[in-house]
Formats: sequence, C-alpha cells, structure tokens
Amino acid sequence: MEDSKGPDYKEQFCLDCGFATRALHAGEHFGQPHTPSHTNPIYQTSTFVFASAEEGARAFSGQDPAYIYTRLGNPTVKVLEAKINALEGAGVKLANPDLRVSTVAFSSGMAAITGALLASAQGGDEILMGNVVYGATEHLASNVLARLGIRTFDVDVSDLAVVRAAIAAHPKAKAILFETPMNPTMVLADIAGVARAVREVNPDIRVIVDNTFATPYLQRPLELGADIVVHSATKYICGHGTVVSGLVTTTVDRVKDELYKLVKDLGSSPGPFDAWLVNQGLKTLPMRMDRHCSNAMAIARHLDRHPKIAKVFFPGLESHPQHALAKAQMKDFGGMLSFELVGGIEAGRTLMNTIKVFTLAVSLGCVDSLIQHPASMTHACVPRDKRLAGGITDGLVRVSVGIEDVEDLIRALDVALAGI
Ligand SMILES: Cc1ncc(COP(=O)(O)O)c(C=O)c1O
Repeated sequence: MEDSKGPDYKEQFCLDCGFATRALHAGEHFGQPHTPSHTNPIYQTSTFVFASAEEGARAFSGQDPAYIYTRLGNPTVKVLEAKINALEGAGVKLANPDLRVSTVAFSSGMAAITGALLASAQGGDEILMGNVVYGATEHLASNVLARLGIRTFDVDVSDLAVVRAAIAAHPKAKAILFETPMNPTMVLADIAGVARAVREVNPDIRVIVDNTFATPYLQRPLELGADIVVHSATKYICGHGTVVSGLVTTTVDRVKDELYKLVKDLGSSPGPFDAWLVNQGLKTLPMRMDRHCSNAMAIARHLDRHPKIAKVFFPGLESHPQHALAKAQMKDFGGMLSFELVGGIEAGRTLMNTIKVFTLAVSLGCVDSLIQHPASMTHACVPRDKRLAGGITDGLVRVSVGIEDVEDLIRALDVALAGI
C-alpha cells in the first residue's frame, strides 16, 4: 500500500532487465537485517507495533510511511504489488515524468474488477462492457452496479466501428472494460484500436483490460494504450490453484488514489499468506506460459483435424478470424482453448465425464489441465439469449491446457473422444 511504504522494496528494480529476471527479483527483499531470509518473509500479522504513542500518531497522520494494520498495507502484499508493477509497467510510456505505474492487490479477481470500475465511475455514470465477459463480471454489472445507479452497456469490442459508435452514443460513459482473449470464446479485442477510439472520441473514458487469459508475459495492455489492467491472480499469475486473488495496475494517478481508498473502505485487501503464494507462483510465470502455449498449440492443431470435433476456437490457429491481431498484440497465443463437438452437448458431457488426466473443474491457468462446460458452469449466470449472442453455445467445452507432457494430454483426449 502506498501510504505505508515500509522498507525500500526496489520498486523500480531493473526495469530494463528481461521479463524472467523481473519476475524473479522485482520487489524481493531479504527480510530484517538480523534475520536475512533468502525468500522474503510472510508478515502474517493483522497489526504492526509502534515504538511510542508519538510514532503511532505520526503513522496515522501520514507523516511517517509506517505499516499500521494489514487491511491498510502489509510488507508481503507490497512485494507482490511491486513485482506486478515491474511486469505490467515496464515499457509503458507515461505522459510526463511525474506519473508512474501503480499496482494494488485485492482479495480476488472480482474484488479487483469491482475496484477498477468503482475507481472510474459513480452513480449516474455509465460503463461500456465487452459483450463476452466472465459470468460474475456480467453479474456484477446487472446486480451491484445497477443498484448503485451505474448503468452498463454491452459492446461487441471485437469490432472497432461498433466500439467507436458506442463511445459516441454514451457521453456519460466513464470506462470501457473488456477481456482479450475473451472467456470462453477466445474472440479478441484490438487493445490499441480501442484505446485510440477512446482518445479520439471521448478521452474521459478509462480503458480497462482484463488480462487474466494472457498475463503480462504474453500481452501488456498499458503499453498498448490502456489505462488500467485487472487480473484474476487466481489463474496464471499464481499458477498453482492455491489462492483466490486479484490485482489492478494503472497509469492514472487519480485511479490509484481511489483504489487505495476502496481497498481500505471495502476491506478487499488480500491476506499476507495468499499474497506470498501468488508472488512465489509469479516467479515461474514465463516458463509456465511458454509450456502452456506450446501444449495448447499442439492440442488445438490436433483437435482441429479430429473427425469428432466440429470447431476449435484458439487464436493461434491460422483459421481464427483474428489470428493476425493475436500475432500483433500477443507474444504467443496462450493456454486456453474451447471447442464444439460434432455430437453437441451430449458428446461434450461424455467427454467431460470420461476423460483422464484433465480434471473436471472451473478456474483456469493451473499447472495441470482443467476442462469445463461454460453454459452450465462459469457462465450459467449469464442470460441464455445473451450467452448465445456472444457465441457461448450449449455445446461449447473450455479447456485450460496445463504443462503436462503434451503426448499424454493428446492421448487422453483421443481415448475420451473415441468413447463418444
Ligand atoms: C477472465 C476472468 N476475470 C475475472 C475472474 C474473476 O476472478 P476471481 O475468481 O479471482 O474473483 C475470472 C474467474 O474465472 C476470469 O476468468
């Protein structure tokens, strides 16, 4: 947390280093001078000690940047924030030297999305939202935001002409939030194109990208002109399926200030142990992502040729309508794919119930492979007509490809498909 800085966490650590070096070293420190642990310690404490009443008063007045209470700031959480800052923020050209990239950690991806939206809009304002988003994001809009008097409007963000028209038609809009690749259709949005449309038509709008599927290793929205990046750190950022956690990174000072207030007032800060686990996972992000990507590419090609598969949705396939955009804005194509079976939903059910190696579970970005059915699981809370309009058909199956030996994953798919 910014208002309780504690020791120097090398926030600007080697911003000119490579991604893997930053993932390992940024934000890290060796604990206290008399207990210099190699791995940064877990400050598993709710509160911090003042040496005197005067020191406590100075901390509360903001005169001293001391840690006070973990909801307001914690050194272990700070390490995670500094590391993501160095990963999402490197290479970002800021409008002036006084600006900086800032990251605030949250207790979940949904808390992070809520924070980013509430930091951008208030009652009476409007928010433009990608027409295909995670089910709970959709529910947040129709439930909580609607009750606060913030209206949301769906926009097909894969079409820049539609985006431009929506911005012009909604002068009260204060933010546009979208995922790319989208969950679970794997449709893309052109981040630089959306940011350009906003600057040209209504620069008051904040461009918010949910970067959960791609991670900063594959795609850096701030570099492409977005104002805010959100993550469900539960997924690839942590990578091991051990934690629910979220992150917001922004180049906009006012948004950062609002985020700090929101995290304090809503109490949506992560626990120190959770932050520590996410930080540990983050250290191997580049190597994990390389393997997720190569495994997913091999599986997508294999399924694309399989007689029992009707259609594969994966931006790495040349047949994906936005393959050129994927090559331009992503380093690689990610580990997520979805497909339709020739036999429809019944065939999909048989596949999910019989397949080995893949685990039938929601979530994604774990080291091991997961399979699930969006229409009845992750996107069940999205009204059916809206789901279908966005391409989330009843027969769509989503796979989060893990880092197992790819031959084993392909064999498991072949055996299960043969049984249909
Ligand atoms: C793209 C995307 N964004 C946000 C979330 C919400 O994250 P969390 O479950 O950590 O709250 C999810 C969860 O699946 C997701 O897939």
